[in-house]
Amino acid sequence: MQQKGIFAIGGSSRQAYISEEEFPSFIQQVIFSMTSSDKTTQTRLMSSDFTEIEPTASAPFELFALWMADAEQSELNDPNAMSVATVDGQGVPNVRTLLLKGFDERGFVFYTNLQSNKGLELLANPFAALCFHWKTLRRQVRVRGPIEQVSDAEADSYYQSRSEGSRIGAWASQQSRPLESRADLERAVDEYTKRFAGKDIPRPPHWSGFRVKPTEIEFWHDRPYRLHDRIVFKRSDFKSKSWDKQRFNP
Ligand SMILES: Cc1cc2nc3c(=O)[nH]c(=O)nc-3n(C[C@H](O)[C@H](O)[C@H](O)COP(=O)(O)O)c2cc1C
Repeated sequence: MQQKGIFAIGGSSRQAYISEEEFPSFIQQVIFSMTSSDKTTQTRLMSSDFTEIEPTASAPFELFALWMADAEQSELNDPNAMSVATVDGQGVPNVRTLLLKGFDERGFVFYTNLQSNKGLELLANPFAALCFHWKTLRRQVRVRGPIEQVSDAEADSYYQSRSEGSRIGAWASQQSRPLESRADLERAVDEYTKRFAGKDIPRPPHWSGFRVKPTEIEFWHDRPYRLHDRIVFKRSDFKSKSWDKQRFNP
C-alpha cells in the first residue's frame, strides 16, 4: 500500500491518505445495519470488520484516515473536532474542543495560542489525550501520547493558509486571559488590522501547533445492546513501528 503523505484536514488542499483502489483487503464497502435505542440506522461503513486489521506500522493511521473520510461525508459540521485533554502543573485535568489540522504517522496536529491554559499545561506536562466522537457514525477514536511543538516552518505554512481575519484574530486574542468587554477585543482587532494594513501578517510568536505522538489509539464502534467493538493499538514508545493490538470488553 502506498502512503501519500500528510493528510491535511479541510479545504481544497486535502489529499487522501490512501485511495479507494488501495484499500487493504480487510476493508470493504458494506451496508451495515445497527439497532440502537429502538432505532435502526443504516450506515455505510468502510470496514467490514475493522477489528480484524493486522497491526502493521501504518494500520491505525490508515483506519483513522478512513473513519475521518467517512465523518467528512456524514457529519453536519466540524468532523475534525476533537476533545483535547491536558493536565496542569497540579495534576488536575482539563479538556476542551479543538480542530485537528493534520495527521500522518508522526502524529495528530492542532494549532493554538501557546500562552493559553492548554499551552501552559502542555508546557508543564507534555502529554495529551484526544477523543473524536462522530455521532452520525456512532464511532469514537481515542489517542494518547507525548506532545511536541511543530516546527516553525510547519506552523508558518498552516498560519499562512488561514484567512486574513483569522490571522489578525491570532494577534488580537490573548486566549484564556480575562477580557473586560467585547469592545476591547474589537479594538485590538482594529489596531492589528491597521498595523498590518498592506503588509504580510507574520505568525505571532505566541501561536503555533502541537503534535500528539500516539502511543495508544483506540477505535470504538457502536454495536447493539451496548456490546460495542473496541480495539486498542498500543506501543511502548512513539518511535516504535510495532503496535500491539488488543480487543477490549465494551
Ligand atoms: C468546534 C470548536 C473548535 C475549536 N477549535 C479550536 C482550535 O483549533 N484551537 C484553539 O485554540 N481553540 C479552539 N476552540 C476553542 C477551545 O475549545 C477553547 O475555548 C480555547 O482554545 C481555550 O482553551 P484553554 O483555555 O483550555 O486553552 C474550538 C472550540 C470549538 C467549540
